[in-house]
Amino acid sequence: MSLHPNQTIKLLHGHASIRTFSDRKIEPAVLATIFEAGTHAPTGGMQPYSVIKIEDAETKQKIFEFDGVEQKQILNAPVDLIFCVDMRRNKRWAGIEVAPFTATSSFEEWWIAFQDTCIFMHTVCIAAEAMGLGTVYIGTVYWYFDKLRELLEIPEGVFPVVLLCMGYPAGEKPNPRKKLPPRVVVHDEKYSDLPDWELIEALDAKHGDQLKISDERLEAARKVATAVHGKEFAEKVLAKIRENGYISMVQYLYSLAYVADDGVRNNERYLTMLKDAGFDWFEPYELNE
Ligand SMILES: Cc1cc2nc3c(=O)[nH]c(=O)nc-3n(C[C@H](O)[C@H](O)[C@H](O)COP(=O)(O)O)c2cc1C
Repeated sequence: MSLHPNQTIKLLHGHASIRTFSDRKIEPAVLATIFEAGTHAPTGGMQPYSVIKIEDAETKQKIFEFDGVEQKQILNAPVDLIFCVDMRRNKRWAGIEVAPFTATSSFEEWWIAFQDTCIFMHTVCIAAEAMGLGTVYIGTVYWYFDKLRELLEIPEGVFPVVLLCMGYPAGEKPNPRKKLPPRVVVHDEKYSDLPDWELIEALDAKHGDQLKISDERLEAARKVATAVHGKEFAEKVLAKIRENGYISMVQYLYSLAYVADDGVRNNERYLTMLKDAGFDWFEPYELNE
């Protein structure tokens, strides 16, 4: 069988995020086709999602400044889409028709709404690529949800999941990036661990295996390791780096990219943001039983 038995598989294999866009506007008919395709996606049933389409330069500039990590693609893309979990529509429906409603207080409803939103957004993303557009997700939206709520007048019961920049690509399309292959992520019948050497080989093949030691990297490794597992563990990390003569990619990633202590430090802040947005499924619910 050929690598690309049909155009859909070819499109999926060719995926690469695009971060520079041409000035060409996205034609309304193209956008309509993309959104129509998106709403055909599978759903847990209630389609508890919305997307906010942003074309206004001033709004993009404000979001770019909130983001604070100089993701120029937010400014550069003709259209920025903010995908949100949206329980508000169904809450209003229940209110108008007088039906019981607990979706914003239910983990199950949150879980399925989040899945629905992701499936919708990536169907939109694939449809955009099929129409010749390029896209890139901006995941850092959660850092500044409170500011976004105000700027975009996002009401209670609606929570943003991700921003998607969309436009016609400028310049050459990048080559597809390395990903973990099926032999690593697919398990036959039951979950099974790869042997250590195979695990390392697969992860190194994707991420690269080692980085030069620098003062900044050493300091970050020490600081993060101390914060999450204590001084003794930090000494072990530094000893391993000295023994290897390099910083391994996972030491780098969890010290400087997906910083391990930040990952847990902000949990409470996010729960507060969820609560402020009208979600409280992480708290007990008193039923009349
Ligand atoms: C949930 C999520 C969040 C992401 N956030 C960002 C981001 O903030 N900035 C960015 O430039 N790319 C972001 N990306 C794009 C990834 O960097 C990209 O998908 C990954 O490097 C693989 O490259 P590819 O999409 O070209 O295959 C994000 C992707 C996902 C799925």
